[in-house]
Amino acid sequence: MAASNLFALFPAQLVRKAIDKIKDLLDQYPQSSSTGKGILSEELSEAVLYFTLLVIAYAFIRGIFMYLMRQTIIVMSRHIEYDLKNEIFDHYQKLNQDFYRKNRIGDLMARISEDVSRVRMYVGPAVMYTINLVVTIILVLIVMFSVNVRLTWLVIMPLPILSFAIFKINNLINTKSDAIQSQLSVVTSFVQEAFSGIRIIKAFGSEQANQMSMEKETNLYREKQMSLAQVEAFFFPLMLFLTGLSSIITIYIGGLEVIAGRGSIGNIAEFIIYVNILVWPVTSLGYTSSLIQRAAASQARINEFLNTQPTMVTDSGKDFDFRNEITFENVSYTYEGKSISAIKNLSFTIARGSTFAILGTTGSGKSTLIQLFLRLFDPSEGNIRIDGQDLKEINLKNWKKSMGYVPQDIFLFSDTISNNIAFGVSQYGGNLGEDIRKAAKMAALHENIINFPNQYETKVGERGITLSGGQKQRVAIARAFIKDPEILVMDDCLSALDTSTEAQILKNMAEIKKNKTYLIVSHRVSSVKEADKILVLDEGKMVEFGTHDELIQLKGSYSDIYNKQIQEESSN
Ligand SMILES: Nc1ncnc2c1ncn2[C@@H]1O[C@H](COP(=O)(O)OP(=O)(O)OP(=O)(O)O)[C@@H](O)[C@H]1O
Ligand SMILES: [Mg+2]
Repeated sequence: MAASNLFALFPAQLVRKAIDKIKDLLDQYPQSSSTGKGILSEELSEAVLYFTLLVIAYAFIRGIFMYLMRQTIIVMSRHIEYDLKNEIFDHYQKLNQDFYRKNRIGDLMARISEDVSRVRMYVGPAVMYTINLVVTIILVLIVMFSVNVRLTWLVIMPLPILSFAIFKINNLINTKSDAIQSQLSVVTSFVQEAFSGIRIIKAFGSEQANQMSMEKETNLYREKQMSLAQVEAFFFPLMLFLTGLSSIITIYIGGLEVIAGRGSIGNIAEFIIYVNILVWPVTSLGYTSSLIQRAAASQARINEFLNTQPTMVTDSGKDFDFRNEITFENVSYTYEGKSISAIKNLSFTIARGSTFAILGTTGSGKSTLIQLFLRLFDPSEGNIRIDGQDLKEINLKNWKKSMGYVPQDIFLFSDTISNNIAFGVSQYGGNLGEDIRKAAKMAALHENIINFPNQYETKVGERGITLSGGQKQRVAIARAFIKDPEILVMDDCLSALDTSTEAQILKNMAEIKKNKTYLIVSHRVSSVKEADKILVLDEGKMVEFGTHDELIQLKGSYSDIYNKQIQEESSN
């Protein structure tokens, strides 16, 4: 940076020398004599050519150093940006569910894009401009003072005022662009949600109301942009005016100095160049300091997330060996911000190799129980033990590896059917194609898939939009089957299927279930009655527990549900 700045200063001295030389020549050879004229024009063109070539050479050398400087600093800042993005994403993935319940997606996105790029602006341009600023100011001032102290003082006096004015205006610009930024994210979220929910919007015919909300938000955005444009419209002319003013002052004061015999005409030309070199770092001072302020704020926001520690660590923890039973001991769970517990004081045992069913009305806590079992979060009270060993002490990665889980709300990635099925196993390798087919057959999906033009390579669209509800469910089921898991967990995932498809899957599962522990959640008695144990939940509490026959004998809520569903079926 120093070298590149030096080569920006040399041309100024060359200009001084050139002008002084020309003046000398003019004084030396009076215009009147014709021989003098010939020699003059020859000497003049020689001098001008010489200085021009030197100036070009210096500019070239300066360019080389500038290239190296940007190559170092800007390229480095891109590397840092890359690292930071990956670090944040990696950390995001480790954080627990309660983190995702608390923070909005838009906010998470902003940290990884917006805030990271502001930090990059700091480690790149801001650092570069700051060093440049210091180096330029020191070098230029040294040179200027060495030429003419008085002139230097007079000429640099307006510069701090310029710098301060720009700093103030820059702050105003920043406040306004922050407001624009946050309004823009309101507009983006609005549009994003509108597109995700476009089917509902169309079905309810609410396009027009939606359009009005959109116009309201975009209008706010426009107003904020206009107000920024006004400030900027004022800012640039002001900057040009102030820099022009410095040049005029230089010429005027320099002229007085020359008249007083304290310098040459070449000095004025030289000083104009110096002042112009100084103006850029001085104006950029305001800009740079605001870059630094914003980067500090962004890094603080990033750190807030990076310092959030996951309460569950995936890789540490003991190995486990599931031989006999999984026990729930007085397990309770309350969602943050809710007064009523979703799960209240549950104790029961799941024997290895058995089928365990959970039945209950909607909102009774079935999915919560399943998620506790998977350890997506930990119980508020009580413990879950695998053969006496606390689930919290077990290596979470292995625990999840042993699990095949079909969630209630299915999520498919915008990828092919086969990749969606192989989602949990793709890292294991092996003959995937055959396994995918087998799993799809078990999930009664194969017949559907082979009728698609691209078969297993069919793209399912965002969130699986091109598939029917039942097809999506079966892709999710195949995704669990392909793992051939030790423990199979299905949360109400046969609900979108007709009875014959359901029966087909249940029949196929009889084979998979052998020697496997199987947890099933359902509203329907038909899918739970074969289970070894049935847990009936109501408002998070266990109301009945036993086999189908035992529960029927109790003549309690299970037998009520059973009788109602039998009646419904026979009336259908
Ligand atoms: N993420 C959450 N944050 C706060 N409360 C929640 C959350 N998820 C569920 N709840 C609440 O916890 C209770 C139990 O919900 P859960 O999803 O476990 O019910 P469920 O038995 O699976 O119901 P369904 O049969 O409708 O799927 C409900 O009252 C619900 O409002
Ligand atoms: Mg549920």
